[in-house]
Amino acid sequence: MSNRTFTMIKPDAFSKGHTGAILDKIIKAGFRIEAMKLTKLSAEKAGEFYAIHAARPFYGELVEFMSSGPIVAAILEKENAVADFRQLIGATDPAKADAGTIRKLYAASVGENAIHGSDSDENAKIESDFFFNMLERI
Ligand code: RTP
Ligand code: MG
Repeated sequence: MSNRTFTMIKPDAFSKGHTGAILDKIIKAGFRIEAMKLTKLSAEKAGEFYAIHAARPFYGELVEFMSSGPIVAAILEKENAVADFRQLIGATDPAKADAGTIRKLYAASVGENAIHGSDSDENAKIESDFFFNMLERI
């Protein structure tokens, strides 16, 4: 069981002004922000982050979208963080997400779905290291 996960508030949610409401929901759900930054991915970096999806038909759109504007990247801490955070954000397709989840509230489509959450302890570590080094952490 892990106590850390990694998240990004994606360009759609950031540009619509949902960052504050989303962070409030995350904190009220019991996650502690261990590191956080406002940044922007180059197409190259977005492609690297989502390299696991390189063969999928939506990869080009995904890379274009994820590099289209600012994002907020963060490391979150909570008991059972990976699974609990996936529950909080809801299904990849907001139309299938449970009521009250972040994607149900703030996502418009499967492609532009407001927020990322790591899918395993291993990926939480890899993704955290992709954005943050030890010196940046509090
Ligand atoms: P994420 O990695 O961003 O947290 O999303 P996820 O685990 O719920 O979904 P995943 O299967 O890892 O897909 C990564 C992202 O690719 C985009 N996608 N588009 N057009 C499509 O059919 C499609 N399918 C996936 C989404 O932005 C998804 O979050
Ligand atoms: Mg995923």
